[in-house]
Amino acid sequence: MNKPLQLAVFASILISLCCSSRAQTCQNYKFSNQNTYAKCVDLPVLNSFLHWNYTASSFQLDLAFRHVGATASEWVAWAINPLGLIMLGSQALVAYQRPDGTFYAYASPIDGYDTALPEGRLSFSFSKLSGTFEKGEMTIFASLQLTGNLVTINQVWQNGPLKGGTPAIHASSADHLTSFGTLNLVTGAAI
Ligand code: HEM
Ligand SMILES: *[C@@H]1O[C@H](CO)[C@@H](O)[C@H](O)[C@H]1NC(C)=O
Repeated sequence: MNKPLQLAVFASILISLCCSSRAQTCQNYKFSNQNTYAKCVDLPVLNSFLHWNYTASSFQLDLAFRHVGATASEWVAWAINPLGLIMLGSQALVAYQRPDGTFYAYASPIDGYDTALPEGRLSFSFSKLSGTFEKGEMTIFASLQLTGNLVTINQVWQNGPLKGGTPAIHASSADHLTSFGTLNLVTGAAI
């Protein structure tokens, strides 16, 4: 690499590190319930963040998925998809505010592109599933019991509208169709 090019690359790295246009970064975020997590990643689309602890010896994943800029008329979801970087097969955690004002967090295995996200059993067990909706932010908390083949995971996330109080199809703009990536739970490396 020649000198000017090196300089340009260095400058662009500096700019991306210090002056990213992203409104929030996960690193300095404080949860109102005082939960803390060793790792987090700013997801590349849909104003979303994943925070987690992973215990490699027991394959246990404690996570918090946050979506900022949420309104009461939308649902949010985060999933592991053992099948690939697609919606179909996603083992999803979903949350939204019910008409009575309670916040509903539940599991939904996605078996088709015509799903209405009904509650169902996932391919792994989990506990402590809950959700909050505060200051325009929806958060899903859960503790997942994973297996040794799910250390580098395919993660998929999404948000969409409620119609008649239940989840309806999300937008098909580029950001809603690229809301997935691989994540190494041990190193935190995301692609
Ligand atoms: C009401 C529930 C849902 C319906 C009806 C729905 C429907 C669809 C449809 C029809 C597509 C294809 C759109 C296109 O190619 O133009 C799609 C894509 C996608 N959906 Fe959903 N979706 C729902 C919920 C979810 C959830 C909960 C997630 C994530 C956990 C998700 C993640 C994605 C992603 C990442 C894509 C693009 C990749 C792919 O085509 O597999 N969707 N969805
Ligand atoms: C995550 O791990 C840290 C350090 O071990 C611990 O203090 C914290 O309570 C854990 N968080 C959750 C939500 O389990």
